[in-house]
Amino acid sequence: MSEVVTQHPPFGSVFADVMAIAWYRDGRWGSAEVVPLAPLPLHPAAHVLHYASECFEGFKAYRWPDGQIHLFRMDRHLERFRQSAASLVLPVPEADWVGGMVRSLIQRCQATVPEAPGALYLRPTLIGTTANIGAAASPSTEACLIVLASPVWDYFSGGAKPLKIWVEERATRCASHLGSTKTGGNYAAALGPTMAARRAHQVDQVLFCPGGEVQETGAANFLLIREGHILTRSLDSSFLHGVTRDSLLTMAGDLGYRVEERVFTVDEMMDWIKTGEAALSGTAAVLAGVGSLLRAGQAFTVADGQIGVHTQRLRSALVDIQQGRSPDRHGWLQTV
Ligand SMILES: Cc1ncc(COP(=O)(O)O)c(C=O)c1O
Repeated sequence: MSEVVTQHPPFGSVFADVMAIAWYRDGRWGSAEVVPLAPLPLHPAAHVLHYASECFEGFKAYRWPDGQIHLFRMDRHLERFRQSAASLVLPVPEADWVGGMVRSLIQRCQATVPEAPGALYLRPTLIGTTANIGAAASPSTEACLIVLASPVWDYFSGGAKPLKIWVEERATRCASHLGSTKTGGNYAAALGPTMAARRAHQVDQVLFCPGGEVQETGAANFLLIREGHILTRSLDSSFLHGVTRDSLLTMAGDLGYRVEERVFTVDEMMDWIKTGEAALSGTAAVLAGVGSLLRAGQAFTVADGQIGVHTQRLRSALVDIQQGRSPDRHGWLQTV
């Protein structure tokens, strides 16, 4: 009998066949609708296409064994969405209203929510649509808000293997005042250095450490972890304030770890990883263990090079809450 091999599609490459959409015109939002997934009618002079007036969010809904669907910390994500919109001078939608769009969308595509360990990834996206290529220095007065839904499985195509990370001490991920804004331009800015490091050193990700201070990778926060102690950069405008980071730090505190949030240097990190663990946190990656760091072309193994016990423990503790195996003590889940 031949073995059945199930191969999931890459993260973010498949979509529910419906999306939620609303347009902002004449100073107000029109009604939100759930419609078939289709290309957008967009003027070629749309503000977003020329001046990158765009922000987005990413969070997950989980199907529990009883069939019920639960959203994880949507309120925090929508608050960040509103902050991103405000910082880009886009119309700021009410959180409850966007939340309603997300719920209506999920109700219409319930069958696409995978069983655990899969999840439905929700992607609210706001774009400036004013048709004006002379508006480089003025905001878009019209906008479109869409919510996409995508069934997802593993973020890193290799599954749970220790990651190889390039330590980038020169290039910045994005402009330092925009790091906490989740805008497409930041990802475009990080792409050049990331692809260069991948080509030259075959790494999975780049850890941005401009001026020798550790920040984050292209799509995840960075945590140093060891017995009873977690160290991560304190919040400032230079990097994204991850909801997963916040959740893990809260849980780590509950589990008795000392949580230290402060600026730290690459030298301090190199010292830490001689015996301690390192991991990336994010909605997509959850908590992914780092196996090695490459600094100035030289490879350094993180502890024993495997995914550390504390990384595994914290990851499981979070996933157990998300998937309904542990109590939700902090009120992080909302039923759809
Ligand atoms: C640049 C960046 N940092 C951090 C994160 C982690 O954020 P969160 O935990 O809210 O998904 C993400 C993912 O969204 C990201 O793109």
